[in-house]
Amino acid sequence: MKIYVETYGCQMNVSDSGKLVRLFRERGWSQTAEPGRADLIVINTCSVREKPELKLFSALGRYIPLKKRRPGLVVAVGGCVAQQWGEKLQERAPGLDIVFGTHQLDRLPELVEAVCREHRPLAETDFKRAPGGLEVAAGPGADGISAMVTIMQGCDNFCSYCIVPYVRGREYSRPSAGIIAEIEELVAAGVKEVMLLGQNVNSYGLKTPGELSFPVLLRRVAAIPGLRRIRFTTSHPKDLSDELIAAFAELDNLCPALHLPLQAGSDAVLERMGRGYTAASYLEKVEKLRRARPGIALTTDIIVGFPGESEADFGETLRLLEEVRYDQIFSFKYSVRPGTRAAAFPDGVPEEEKKERLSRCHHLQDRITAEILAAEVGRRREVLVTGPSRRGGGEWSGRTPENRIVNFPARDLEPAPGDLLSVRITEALKHSLRGKLLMGMEADAV
Ligand code: 5AD
Ligand code: SF4
Repeated sequence: MKIYVETYGCQMNVSDSGKLVRLFRERGWSQTAEPGRADLIVINTCSVREKPELKLFSALGRYIPLKKRRPGLVVAVGGCVAQQWGEKLQERAPGLDIVFGTHQLDRLPELVEAVCREHRPLAETDFKRAPGGLEVAAGPGADGISAMVTIMQGCDNFCSYCIVPYVRGREYSRPSAGIIAEIEELVAAGVKEVMLLGQNVNSYGLKTPGELSFPVLLRRVAAIPGLRRIRFTTSHPKDLSDELIAAFAELDNLCPALHLPLQAGSDAVLERMGRGYTAASYLEKVEKLRRARPGIALTTDIIVGFPGESEADFGETLRLLEEVRYDQIFSFKYSVRPGTRAAAFPDGVPEEEKKERLSRCHHLQDRITAEILAAEVGRRREVLVTGPSRRGGGEWSGRTPENRIVNFPARDLEPAPGDLLSVRITEALKHSLRGKLLMGMEADAV
């Protein structure tokens, strides 16, 4: 039996899809990249931005007709859109067998069996206190050396534009013992790098009596022998504590890289977004981070064209980009999410204006990214090898602790994924670096 999974959206969804595949593998299934050969097609949806329904219905329009050719084929939709729509999805898309919500991931095998037995559509979208599936390990990622580990799910922040609290439910922290055991197993299986995942990792454990806080969890994880690199996402700036900042100074294997979503540079816009910080308090945290860990690479999310965002407000966002100098930004045009507070806000920004602001963000950031990468030339960096370079040519690819991609020729050495090598950066390209492998004595010299 074969499962095909199509994933939209964030890292959390990618990790959830990994978990689904794991659940079915444990039951003797295998994964296929060809929907036409699958016995089960799962679409794992995201509704954070844009028009997720369009994409979903077009996918269903491709997959449901396959059932005519393959009797017994089961089609299922999970993730945030499934959570929002529930059985209404099946009214819109007859032939859709299963709708499973964000807390029902672990139940998919059981739901598939029930559909095969009872030949009727099923929809399960209840929220539970502890989302089902959190304890399912996704296992190592495709490269075998890095892995994502979910530590919490849901969000209680209710930023005014955001659908996540409605579709992922209340914040729930997974018990730390299970997290640590999962990472120990991953390391034993050869994993060198973990990414701890949650919608708002900084508030990990705070609402569970007796649970570790996030900085303490990080220290425990960092002490696992053989784990070379730790990353985490996402951090809400308002909850970035001094203790967490101190962890960047203390823990060598905590990578000097942080995704810290700014969203907007104007205090008035931040206030209407309900973000709980000002541009000045954000910048203060950035300064502390850079003092704790010089050279830390920051990335961020930006929303342009939030209701009421004036040209002057947008100018503040550009000013912050200049001031912080992020490695990379993920910028989006604001899009209304029905049911959120901002959906009722007046003074929508015209689409053309949003487009224009987005392109100004990209333009500015391209220059900053180029400057940051150019400044890397000549430096020596430790590269965690992920595999042969996608550009081919016998080159290898890896990432620096700052999460910058480096491609390099192998020289006489045949690198293996998971190797930590010393590389001298020789060239900056648009989104990556090139380097020369340092060997023997040259690798030791600074
Ligand atoms: N419109 C545009 N972007 C959004 N994001 C979340 N909700 C919206 C929305 N309604 C962006 C934010 C968030 C990222 C995951 O998606 O920047 O950090
Ligand atoms: Fe959405 Fe805000 Fe929660 Fe992030 S912190 S998931 S933007 S509500």
